[in-house]
Amino acid sequence: MSEAVIRVVGLGKSYVTAAGLFPALKGVDLEIRPGEYIAIMGPSGSGKSTFMNLLGCLDTPSLGEYWLDGQNVAQLDNDALARLRNRTLGFVFQGFNLLPRMSLQDNVALPLVYAGADKETRRRAARELLAKVGLGQYAESLPNRISGGQQQRVAIARALVNQPRLILADEPTGNLDSHTSEEIMRLFGELNAEGITIVLVTHEPDIARHAKRQVRFLDGEIVDDHLTEPAP
Ligand SMILES: Nc1ncnc2c1ncn2[C@@H]1O[C@H](COP(=O)(O)OP(=O)(O)OP(=O)(O)O)[C@@H](O)[C@H]1O
Ligand SMILES: [Mg+2]
Repeated sequence: MSEAVIRVVGLGKSYVTAAGLFPALKGVDLEIRPGEYIAIMGPSGSGKSTFMNLLGCLDTPSLGEYWLDGQNVAQLDNDALARLRNRTLGFVFQGFNLLPRMSLQDNVALPLVYAGADKETRRRAARELLAKVGLGQYAESLPNRISGGQQQRVAIARALVNQPRLILADEPTGNLDSHTSEEIMRLFGELNAEGITIVLVTHEPDIARHAKRQVRFLDGEIVDDHLTEPAP
């Protein structure tokens, strides 16, 4: 059996607040295998973003272990962690997070600048991915010239540019209407069919239904983990 892309053991996170330590995540165990497509659900404040930020190595746990692509994240130095993140992970956020003064092409290519790719490689990769998400004709446009759904497609193209094995998306459809959300979910479905592992957070059962497995958080713990029933 192939190795888990993600394995967390007893993962916990407490925030320092004026009222003392607040345990937002209370010792979570989860294993995610290559090719899985998981929706993380749960009420506001249940720890979903806290968990995603740990998976994305954007924050460090207070307790427990996180193994990403077979490596114990806590034991990596900054350079090794940056390399692992770059080649393994792509991020998509609720707010798209595109740079407003950069063309769509340059936005998509930005992670390749950090990876040290030359200009022509960056241009080619960005063009290819914009075409893949159906926005090839807008390569030179600025983000404010396109719709929210289109901006999210650009953000997905940017997340794909380092050819990650895993996409992490925190409420990627949270700012989109239901029709546009369905289009974005279709794109995630296609990416998963190509073999990319996807973990996405959503409040909406209709969105979660697109995933193959659904994990529910409550008060910083996983309270349910089941495969999605096939549509009737
Ligand atoms: N930086 C922080 N400092 C202190 N408390 C925090 C911090 N970030 C989150 N929390 C608290 O931790 C808990 C979990 O927050 P988190 O953002 O993970 O929830 P969530 O499930 O993503 O919620 P939502 O659905 O509203 O996005 C909440 O009670 C929140 O107030
Ligand atoms: Mg959140």
